[in-house]
Amino acid sequence: MTNHPSAKKITICQPDDWHVHLRDGTLLKGVLRSTAKVFRRAIVMPNLQPPITSIDAAFAYRDRILASLPRELSFTPLMTAYLTDDFSSKVLEKGHSKGIFFAAKLYPANSTTNSASGVSDLRRIDFLLETMERIGLPLLIHGEVTDPDVDIFDREAVFIDRHLTPLLTRFPDLRIVLEHITTEHAVKFVESNGPNLAATITPHHLHINRNAMFLNGLRSDFYCLPVVKREKHRLALRKAATSGKPCFFLGTDSAPHLRSSKENACGCAGIFNAPFAIESYVEVFEQEDSLDSLEAFASKNGSQFYGLPSNKDSITLIKESQTVPKYIEILNDQGQLEHLVPFHAGETLSWRIETKNSNGSE
Ligand code: DOR
Ligand code: ZN
Repeated sequence: MTNHPSAKKITICQPDDWHVHLRDGTLLKGVLRSTAKVFRRAIVMPNLQPPITSIDAAFAYRDRILASLPRELSFTPLMTAYLTDDFSSKVLEKGHSKGIFFAAKLYPANSTTNSASGVSDLRRIDFLLETMERIGLPLLIHGEVTDPDVDIFDREAVFIDRHLTPLLTRFPDLRIVLEHITTEHAVKFVESNGPNLAATITPHHLHINRNAMFLNGLRSDFYCLPVVKREKHRLALRKAATSGKPCFFLGTDSAPHLRSSKENACGCAGIFNAPFAIESYVEVFEQEDSLDSLEAFASKNGSQFYGLPSNKDSITLIKESQTVPKYIEILNDQGQLEHLVPFHAGETLSWRIETKNSNGSE
């Protein structure tokens, strides 16, 4: 689709979200619509409590997602296995052949939310990676070291040098997605190590740098992992996302936490960007004079990497401003009213979704 940089309206093939946290229980019910109203498919992260480490758990979680889906929406959740030190390769292979494991997620142990059962040492799962390489099951990586001696702002770069580089040599045919990249180093690394390596980029890493976390006080709403970095990294990510290069695609990493869990002595990492995710990305593409590349990033590159067809439907965005609510009300598991703060809360965004166009063939 051709979308001129000065366009006031753009139509793109319906996008997919290649990295999202949908949670469970009342939170799942509260957040699912935000994703499913725009995205046709999404790769759903398995870091629940307890994590998704079995075929049955993945089927059951998918059923809960589909049961929470508003009737009028067509949405396909693509499920992931949560790798642990003692995950069995047979289970991985069986889950893949049954069509329930679309990919497997590597959380280095204690790297982020609910990652305590993650992998303690990458070398311990070589046998799993061999299986994945053989059967064509993609590996999705939270690429940060957890070594407390490494500065938190360097943990992605150190992971790439210490772990990812040798991993690519050991498993040249394994398809890998380095999730939610945050640095210039990651951009360059991914660009020069294709075609089996790709990366997702979030809206928040395109909009904010690390100053946002400390603007007139401590701003937990902007705390996520990997943590946002300095301005030069944000600029490198914007260039990468809007480049149209097939190795970069949309993954929101929308990660809702109740406000009470964010504004806490030990606040949770995660930014809930699902409600205005596509509008947030469009804003960046317009500012970079790259509306022409939005469709590749949002709707084509990811499906191509994963060997799936593009979506048949399309969405139209129109340049009309809208103000993002300061919070969204939601019931917690005890039935009490709580708040979720969406990314861009209180800001005015320049674009909104005009229509979702069905070609009626699904
Ligand atoms: O900020 C984050 N939140 N990063 C992650 O890797 C996990 C996520 C979550 O699940 O809350
Ligand atoms: Zn994530």
